[in-house]
Amino acid sequence: MTQTEEQSVSTGDTPFVPIDKIVSLCKRRGFVYPNSEIYGGVSGIYDFGPLGVELRNNIRRFWWWSMVQTNDNVVGIEGAIITHPRVWEASGHVENFVDRLVDCKNCKRRFRVDHLPEENIRQNKCPVCGGELTEPRKFNLMMETYIGVVEGERMKTYLRGEACQNIYLDYDNVLKSSRVAIPFGICQIGKAFRNEVTPGNFLFRQREFEQWDLQFFVHPSQMQQWFDYWKERRFEWYKSIITHKDRLRFRAHGPDELAHYAKQAFDIEYQTVLGWQEWEGIHWRQDWDLSRHSEYSGQDLSYTDPETKERYIPWIVETSGGVDRTFLNLLIDAYEEEPPSGKDKEGRTVLRLNPMLAPVKVAVLPLQKNKEDLVTTAKELHSKLRRLMVSQYDEVSNIGRRYRRQDEIGTPFCVTIDFTTLEDQTVTVRERDSMAQIRLPMNEVPAYLLERVRWDYSV
Ligand code: GAP
Repeated sequence: MTQTEEQSVSTGDTPFVPIDKIVSLCKRRGFVYPNSEIYGGVSGIYDFGPLGVELRNNIRRFWWWSMVQTNDNVVGIEGAIITHPRVWEASGHVENFVDRLVDCKNCKRRFRVDHLPEENIRQNKCPVCGGELTEPRKFNLMMETYIGVVEGERMKTYLRGEACQNIYLDYDNVLKSSRVAIPFGICQIGKAFRNEVTPGNFLFRQREFEQWDLQFFVHPSQMQQWFDYWKERRFEWYKSIITHKDRLRFRAHGPDELAHYAKQAFDIEYQTVLGWQEWEGIHWRQDWDLSRHSEYSGQDLSYTDPETKERYIPWIVETSGGVDRTFLNLLIDAYEEEPPSGKDKEGRTVLRLNPMLAPVKVAVLPLQKNKEDLVTTAKELHSKLRRLMVSQYDEVSNIGRRYRRQDEIGTPFCVTIDFTTLEDQTVTVRERDSMAQIRLPMNEVPAYLLERVRWDYSV
C-alpha cells in the first residue's frame, strides 16, 4: 500500500497515521532505534532510546499498578527467559507452535497461509504475481539456544516463545510461599522470542518483544464468571489509555484459529492504518497447562480446597498483551498533525499521550537564555521538579519552538519563567492539548503538576 492510500483508509474524523510517520518520529526524537543499525540492523528487533525507555517504563508500571498493586488476589513474578527444554514439549510449542508457509514458484516470495486472502488460497495463486504456490510447509517459531560449554554435552533449549510459561512453572511455589488461595492470579511482564516468518510494521510484529500476562487460577465451576470479568476489565483498561475509543473492539476467535491450548478466545483489537489488529488475547486455557506440566514433570500440580478438601486441577483465564504493541498503538493513537491556527501560526505535531504515561511530564523554560536571573530561577525550579517527575530544562531557541518540541514528544506541561516571575514569583503553566496558559505561584507548581500526572484509574 502506498502512503497516500494508507492515509485515506479512515473511518472516523481523523485519518489514520501512516506507520512511517511514527517510525520517523521515534528515530528523530529518541523513542526507538533499529537494533544493530551500524551493522545494517536485524529484521524484527529494536532498541528503545531515552524517551522510549521512559514511556515504556510508565506503560509497564501502570499495568503493574492496576493489575498487581491494586488487586488483593493477584501477585507478581519475574521468571527467566531460558527454561528446561521439557517445558516447551509439555506446553505443546515444540510440536504445535508453527506457521504454515507457501512459496510462489514464479516470483519466489514466501507467505504465511493465514495471511493470504481466501481467494488466493482457493486458487493456489500468488497474491503478487499470480504464480502457482507450493504446498504449505510447517515452520516452527521457537528460537533455539544451548546451555553448557563442553561441545557434545551442551543441552539444546529455547528462548521462551511465550512469557507466561514461567507462571505455570512457579504456580506451586507461589501457592506455597504466598498467602493466596483460589481464585487468584499471577502476573508477569517479560520478553518473548519468536522466529516470526514475516516480522514487520515496526514494533507490531517483532522477533524479540515483551508480553504482559495475567494467569488467573479458578475452580472449573467459576471459569465462565472469571473469564467474563477479566475480558471486560482488560477492555476497559485499554479504553482508559486511548483517545480514539471507537477504534477498540473485541473479536472472537473462530474454531480454526484457536491456539493449541485455547478452548475459547477473544482478541481485543485496535484499528490503525494496518486495519483491525490484535492488541491483547483473552484465552480460556482451562486445565491444559497445569495438566500437561503435571504429566511431563511428574509433579502433582492439583489444588486442594482448604475448606471443602476437594482436589482438582485449577482452570486458567489468561489475559496476554504486548508491551510493544501498546507502545506502538499509544503513539499512533496520540499522534496528530495540527494545521496552523489562531493559537499556533505554524501548526504543530502533537502527541496527545495520557499525562501519566508521557515520557516527560514537564519542561521548564526560561523566556530568554541570556538573562541570568531567568536562567537561575528556571534551573532551580527544574531541579526541584526532577526529583518528583521527569522534567526537562530547555533554553535553546525561541519559546514557540520549544513548546513545539515538547508537544511533539507529548510533554503535558511547560512552565515558563519570565520577567514577571522575577517580580512576583509566579510562572506561566502551558497545557499541551489546549495550549491554554495559566499563571500560578511558583511554589504551587509541584503539587499542581503531581495531581495531573499521577496514576488515575478507577475501572
Ligand atoms: N500466552 C499467550 C500468548 O502468547 P499471543 O496472542 O501469541 O498469546 C499475546 O501473544 C500478545 O503478545 C499479543 O496480543 C501481542 O500483543 C503480543 N505479540 C505476539 N506476538 C508478537 C510479536 N511478534 N511482536 C510483538 N508483539 C507480539
